[in-house]
Amino acid sequence: LNNGLMRTPPMGWLAWERFRCDIDCQNDPKNCISENLFMDMADRLSEDGWRELGYVYINIDDCWSSMERDENGRLQPDPKRFPGGIHKLARYMHDRGLKLGIYGDMGTHTCGGYPGTTLDKIQIDAQTFADWEVDMFKFDGCYSNATEQEQGYPLMSKALNATGRPIGYSCSWPAYVGGLPPKVNYTQLGEICNLWRNYDDIQDSWDSVLNIIDWFFDNQDALQPAAGPGRWNDPDMLIIGDFGLSLDQSRSQMALWSIMAAPLFMSNDLRTISSGAQSILQNKIAIGINQDAMGMAGRRILKEKSGIEVFWRPLSNNASALVFFSRRTDMPYRYTSSLRQLNFTTGSYKIIDVFTGKMASLKDSTDFVVSVNPSGVVMWYVSAPARMNLNHLHIFSYI
Ligand code: DGJ
Repeated sequence: LNNGLMRTPPMGWLAWERFRCDIDCQNDPKNCISENLFMDMADRLSEDGWRELGYVYINIDDCWSSMERDENGRLQPDPKRFPGGIHKLARYMHDRGLKLGIYGDMGTHTCGGYPGTTLDKIQIDAQTFADWEVDMFKFDGCYSNATEQEQGYPLMSKALNATGRPIGYSCSWPAYVGGLPPKVNYTQLGEICNLWRNYDDIQDSWDSVLNIIDWFFDNQDALQPAAGPGRWNDPDMLIIGDFGLSLDQSRSQMALWSIMAAPLFMSNDLRTISSGAQSILQNKIAIGINQDAMGMAGRRILKEKSGIEVFWRPLSNNASALVFFSRRTDMPYRYTSSLRQLNFTTGSYKIIDVFTGKMASLKDSTDFVVSVNPSGVVMWYVSAPARMNLNHLHIFSYI
């Protein structure tokens, strides 16, 4: 969507995977869906080094609203759990250099059973979010049929635009119709949404992450060209820092979400996150790859019989990223290849290992060996070969 927003994939925090529909503030005050939870996470984003790296969205998901609309037909937050109201919560974010996202559902009810946004309510809801100074809106698709969705998602895009407030627009539409053409028209989605959920919800397990990875790369011919500045495929939240992934698996999620140019929405508890998980999520090179200005998504380029898979993403300045991923379950695998075998052109390249920080030069013709842990990755940032004339010209023009 060309609304000037999300020219690189959005980054931040989203409540759903980790905190679900916990509304029991009586017995679980620290974890229930309430303004306190979002303010706690905002404090962490702004005080623990996240915001500076680009993690600026704090997004509310389902179960925030009251069971009834107000007397003017407007959505309203649950008064016990959000006593200050959403507008005040948005101010809290803005005061800290953060942005607030909110959630609604194209249909009669949200998936959690709260008031939905039927076609006749689209305009008033868009206006309500704009009045609250919300910065992003996720439009879920429970309790509607395909015809209603076909009307509702584009209508909401228009309605948000008509408010005059820049609001990033996340569409769950494709996930409700199978995620693939011909049922999904990715050209149209790119025109009306900034990002879209293509596939199933992520759960806190490696199985779930692997299932999502397989679906996205098995269907890369349809999905990869759909992504670009202002329009992103969304394979769902990062679960790094939760309970289901080892550190190697966490690196794999971070690496492959970066190859996909996926939005980086963490759903974890930033108050108690381990330093190991935090350093993976705060890896500057991985984030830099995810946020590359060219905004072209990567692809799986090799599936070896050994269980090693190779992924490649072209980046600006003629650089690129490589990921070697192991699906093995035995021991670290020593994978041998060369840049030439991976279709790189002749030259000498500079390599930075994303997770160790080690650097090396590598000729396209030289064999290398990477040791890839079970369900882990080795990720490389590969800079362009030195091209004498051009490079010198650049250097001198800056002096
Ligand atoms: C389905 C969505 O795909 C999830 O991300 C989450 O928003 C739930 N609905 C909330 O009920």
